[in-house]
Amino acid sequence: MDIIKHIAIIMDGNGRWAERRGLLRTFGHNEGVNSLRCTLEHAGKLGIKYLTVFAFSTENWKRSTEEVNALMKLFKLYLKNEEKNLMEKNVKFLVSGSKIGVPEDLLERIEHLKKVTANNTGIVFNVAFNYGGRSEIIDAVNLILKENRENIENTKKEITEEEFSKYLYNDLPYPELLIRTSGEFRISNFLLWQIAYSEIYICDTLWPDFSEKDLDDAIASYNQRDRRFGGI
Ligand code: FPP
Repeated sequence: MDIIKHIAIIMDGNGRWAERRGLLRTFGHNEGVNSLRCTLEHAGKLGIKYLTVFAFSTENWKRSTEEVNALMKLFKLYLKNEEKNLMEKNVKFLVSGSKIGVPEDLLERIEHLKKVTANNTGIVFNVAFNYGGRSEIIDAVNLILKENRENIENTKKEITEEEFSKYLYNDLPYPELLIRTSGEFRISNFLLWQIAYSEIYICDTLWPDFSEKDLDDAIASYNQRDRRFGGI
């Protein structure tokens, strides 16, 4: 069994976690940031090289204005408050997603955190924000078409999968393991290109309750799998 380099997580169940306690859904998201902090730290200690988490999808704009605003505010606060912690833990910060519709001040904070952590050599923490898997593929295709228009001599007639990956939001090794919390059996437009051969682990834990043990259990389950990549 290969050692896991990259884990991707669909952090689901924040809303239900809050509703079950008679709280506003946004409390669940606040609490979710704590689980995220613990998970990132634990993954780093375990020697995982990349962690990608789904923080806001292109479809999440359809939620109530209150919830969208609360999620934007939470991310902005995270970007502001977490810099010291990420530097101390040697974490390299990245974001995967479309810039369209994202407030300018948020984009500036994202760029700042990417810049200051760019030379960190520990775990790469990739936040999928304003992210959709289909949009990522279409954005990549449009980049290639644009390059072709601008550089007629070097027009690409055919490209390989490897070359195509370079046009994605971030060209990271594909995740070996995809975790989804809260017992839902869906991909929800997450990393469509990258998870072609990922092992999927679904647990009932709601994201705000996700603990170090849940991550250990997911990795233990992965270690039992027989990955054949279409072979026998
Ligand atoms: C899904 O739960 C979760 C989200 C849409 C947001 C995830 C965001 C965080 C964990 C915190 C913010 C992230 C960063 C990087 C600061 P849901 O609301 O769909 O839950 P439900 O299915 O129970 O309604």
